[in-house]
Amino acid sequence: GRVVVLYGGKSAEREVSLKSGAAVLAALQRAGVEAIGYDPAEGGLVGLEALAPDRVFIALHGRGGEDGTLQGALELLGIPYTGSGVLASALGMDKQRTKLIWQALGLPTPESVMLGPRADWSAVAERLGLPLIVKPVHEGSTLGISIVESRDALEAAYRDAARFDARVMAERFVKGEEYTVTLLAGAVLPAIRVEVPSGFYDYEAKYLSDETRYHLPCGLSGDEEAQLAALCRGAFEAIGAEGWGRVDVMRDSEGRFWLIEVNTVPGMTDHSLVPQSAAHAGIDFDALVLRILATAGE
Ligand code: DAL
Ligand code: MG
Repeated sequence: GRVVVLYGGKSAEREVSLKSGAAVLAALQRAGVEAIGYDPAEGGLVGLEALAPDRVFIALHGRGGEDGTLQGALELLGIPYTGSGVLASALGMDKQRTKLIWQALGLPTPESVMLGPRADWSAVAERLGLPLIVKPVHEGSTLGISIVESRDALEAAYRDAARFDARVMAERFVKGEEYTVTLLAGAVLPAIRVEVPSGFYDYEAKYLSDETRYHLPCGLSGDEEAQLAALCRGAFEAIGAEGWGRVDVMRDSEGRFWLIEVNTVPGMTDHSLVPQSAAHAGIDFDALVLRILATAGE
């Protein structure tokens, strides 16, 4: 039957999604799967239904694609789709409520507070320490995120994040190393350590720079990597995520891991992390795409 790859969309991550979707579509076509691409920003759900897909591969990032709304529509249309269901998709897009669940389960995640236009900036800086992170609650690809070094810079960082989202949070900054872990069909793939010369893995470092270094193997001992894998599996399952996804983690100077977020539709571009981790596990890009496709309707 026919597979429709959804990509593009209207979120701030549209450009990333166009790249992810094009790569996925090419892989499916190479594998002999009857597949077409479709941008819901152009024809909406009506246009999608008219294509009569047997299955949908979701390569949309951010709101309107990764956040549960599309998943709900596909449930109602009775069309199987890849990855997480409605609840986990909605939670994964909400970095703050994801944390509340992790905290309730005793999983380590940096302390955070919600910000508003009249926040007590001094109290926030005092509680979380400096530097701290300011980020939109529902956004991907590091859009709208800043590292705030001084109390006086906090309000500007808040306003910058508020351009992306009505809900903005401040989070304690974990100084250390950045790791990311891919989950695929019940398996945990090798962790990657991401090293950025600028020190901040932002949009530029993620998609544009050739200086970002991806360490694979990640450099942890076997025991440490096993601990990280178990933590990420727990974090993924805590929000009910399924199929595939990626958990981002910081490791502080004392070797403690801190959960940052779950991505339920991680990037699949040529700079992206999931394909690199899969390749290291012996799963080439085309095989990876087929395994993700197999999660549709499970
Ligand atoms: N939000 C981007 C696409 C990622 O997590 O890879
Ligand atoms: Mg993200």
